[in-house]
Amino acid sequence: MKIRKAVIPAAGLGTRLLPSTKAMPKEMLPIIDKPTIQYIIEEAVESGIKDIIIVTGKGKKSIEDHFDTSMLLEETLKNKGKITILKEMQSISQLANIHYIRQGVPNGLGHAIWCARNFIGNEPFAVLLGDTLIKDKKPCLKEMIRLFEECQSSIIGVKRVNESELSRYGIVDVMKGNESLLKVRNLVEKPDKGEAPSDLAIFGRYILTPKIFELLEKQERGVGNEIQLTDSLQTLLNYENVYAQIFEGKSYDIGEKLGYLKTIIEFAMEREDLKKDLVEFLKAIVIKKGTAPLE
Ligand code: UTP
Repeated sequence: MKIRKAVIPAAGLGTRLLPSTKAMPKEMLPIIDKPTIQYIIEEAVESGIKDIIIVTGKGKKSIEDHFDTSMLLEETLKNKGKITILKEMQSISQLANIHYIRQGVPNGLGHAIWCARNFIGNEPFAVLLGDTLIKDKKPCLKEMIRLFEECQSSIIGVKRVNESELSRYGIVDVMKGNESLLKVRNLVEKPDKGEAPSDLAIFGRYILTPKIFELLEKQERGVGNEIQLTDSLQTLLNYENVYAQIFEGKSYDIGEKLGYLKTIIEFAMEREDLKKDLVEFLKAIVIKKGTAPLE
């Protein structure tokens, strides 16, 4: 079967970024001049997906507005002769077929995905977390979709992380092998210190078979009193093969303060219109801090 649809969970409360996320979805936080979730939709589209469902909730209306047509804005840009930006605005509303479903209460990532079950139906699908950006030569999801066509099983995107970071992620233990696709043996969500079965962290891209909905339906609450996708993936191992794909590109978690800052700086360093001035600015700060005590 082919992957035709994607789910983007974006209904979380974003408590690590409060108060900025009190009335503004974290998925709409700008990386310079583009909201995070637009990059994610673009990754899905570049990977060949046209039908996308965003799981939203209270206070997330600006996501829908962003991907909608804005007649007033378009008329105004047209009247002012700002044609380049007008075309860009029109292309945003034509990026993909975007659908929405509400997750009444943010009961966890697993529950958010379960909310999309009727839209997905009985076919495999992709999941892209609404607060994680990925940079690689090719779109990350595209490679995962290619591998799915070979194995026809669920695939979890993973990357190697330092020991100090392990308890922030879902961690995957895999069978030994040299291929890009490794068979998963065990999964743990946010393991306690010293309890992680490996250094392979789940970072926000998945290909899932529809069996997962059946398991999520019965899933009990786990870490953080939330319905965890990782726990249902662990149960899925009793029924189907699950693979991990080690990803070599860079991932950016905009859902925590330092991650958000790093993302903006790295993305700005790749922009010809910003790079030179930003480098000068950063150099000046570092030199100043270098000569004076940091405190
Ligand atoms: P996170 O766990 O990073 O989001 O979920 P959060 O709960 O909003 O973050 P904090 O811990 O309070 O700061 C990863 C993605 O899953 C979505 C989030 O919106 C985010 O894009 N999510 C999470 C849901 O859609 N529903 C949920 O119940 C939880």
